[in-house]
This record gives sequence, C-alpha cells and structure tokens, in this order.
Amino acid sequence: MKAIYFLVALLALAFSFASAYDPSPLQDFCVAINDTKNGVFVNGKFCKDPKLANANDFFFSGLNKPGNTSNPVGSKVTAVTVEQILGLNTLGISLARIDFAPKGLNPPHTHPRGTEILVVEEGTLYVGFVTSNPENRLFTKVLNKGDVFVFPIGLIHFQLNVGYGNAVAFAGLSSQNPGVITIANAVFGSNPPISPEVLTKAFQVDKKIIDYLQKQFWSDNN
Ligand SMILES: *[C@@H]1O[C@H](CO)[C@@H](O)[C@H](O)[C@H]1NC(C)=O
Ligand SMILES: *[C@@H]1O[C@H](CO)[C@@H](O)[C@H](O)[C@H]1NC(C)=O
Repeated sequence: MKAIYFLVALLALAFSFASAYDPSPLQDFCVAINDTKNGVFVNGKFCKDPKLANANDFFFSGLNKPGNTSNPVGSKVTAVTVEQILGLNTLGISLARIDFAPKGLNPPHTHPRGTEILVVEEGTLYVGFVTSNPENRLFTKVLNKGDVFVFPIGLIHFQLNVGYGNAVAFAGLSSQNPGVITIANAVFGSNPPISPEVLTKAFQVDKKIIDYLQKQFWSDNN
C-alpha cells in the first residue's frame, strides 16, 4: 500500500515538473515569496500568506523610463515579470518595454514559455518570426505607431528599428516568466563554448568562421 502512495506522489511530482505552461491559480492570487534560498518551487515560487498581501505586491513603477540602448545591438528590453511583481506568480502574464536606438535591433530570439503581443508606441519597426521545420516560413511586417503584432510561443523572432529616430514598443507575454534565448548568444556565446566541431558541421562553414564568431562579445540586451 505504502509503495502505491509513493508511486502516486512521484507521478504527481513528475507531472508538476513536466508542466510546460504556467499553471492556473487555484486561488485569487499567490504572491510569491522572493526567496530562492530554498531548493523547492511551488507554482514557480512559494506563496505569501494571502492575509499579508498588499497592493505593492501587484505594483511596479518606472516603465516610463527609456532603457539604455548604448550596446552593440542598440536596443534594451526592460522586463516586468514575476521577478519584479511578485503578485504575478501563477497568473500566466508579464510585460516588457523595448527601446530602440536608430537602426537598433532586438536580435533573433525566442521565449520558450510565452506568446508575445507587441504594440508600437513610437517609431517604425520591421518585425518578423520564422515557423518551425520543415517550412521555416518567414512572416514579416513593418509596424508604425499603434500597430500590433503577435509572435507565437517558442518561435524565433526579431524587431529592427527602420525609422529615423528612436523607437519604443511594449509587449505582453503569456507567462509570468517567459524566458528569453537569444540565438547568437546561445549558439556562439555559450558557457562553456560549444565544440567547433559541432558548429562547423551545423553551419557548414570553415572553423575560422566559427572561431571568429565564438570570440565575439555577444551582448545581452535584456
Ligand atoms: C548606458 O550604458 C553605457 C554602456 O554600458 C554606459 O557607459 C552609460 O553610462 C549608460 N548611460 C546611462 C545614462 O546610464
Ligand atoms: C526578486 O529577486 C530577484 C533575484 O534575486 C531580484 O532581481 C528582484 O529584484 C527581486 N524582486 C523583488 C520584487 O524584490
């Protein structure tokens, strides 16, 4: 009998770790306790006693401030996720402000856990995403102030400022912690580096090119 209970407990644990989407809340909210010292995660984070929650657990200030775009890609993402608003825990949503210098690029990246819906507040952006294999279809659009575009969950996408001045966009993401994998950083800037043998074959280029790419500084605009 005990063995069966153990098995059921183990299965429940396995399922909770296998959950790919943000779990739906089983209560009004579950304000996270921002303490990563403990090794166990419940719904992403431990919850605060609801009686101790207050308005500040659901509040963030400062998204009016432009991000610093002085970096090699000329863009800056200011994310407001469960790390900034602990009350977002279990709610399956977050927000970001993206600033672009002239010609600034938010380089090809994916959000492993969230779909993104972006609205242009200022400027003109050339945006796009690519579908999965084998089609790898590219969908692109030029967006102006007030235009909205969707980047489906997991797909590689980018935004390039093609206007004359700075550009600003805001994005909603369908996860409290959508995550970001910048393609160049992950492939050429991993720590430790991926073996050049893997990359020369994968990209069908000379080792010199891979060495060159792996020596670059892959700045993170997040
Ligand atoms: C913006 O970032 C650059 C490079 O890190 C830094 O030199 C500069 O002081 C920053 N500017 C502001 C206003 O913080
Ligand atoms: C929560 O912890 C993270 C990581 O230590 C930190 O970056 C973040 O600012 C904290 N958030 C709040 C609301 O305290």
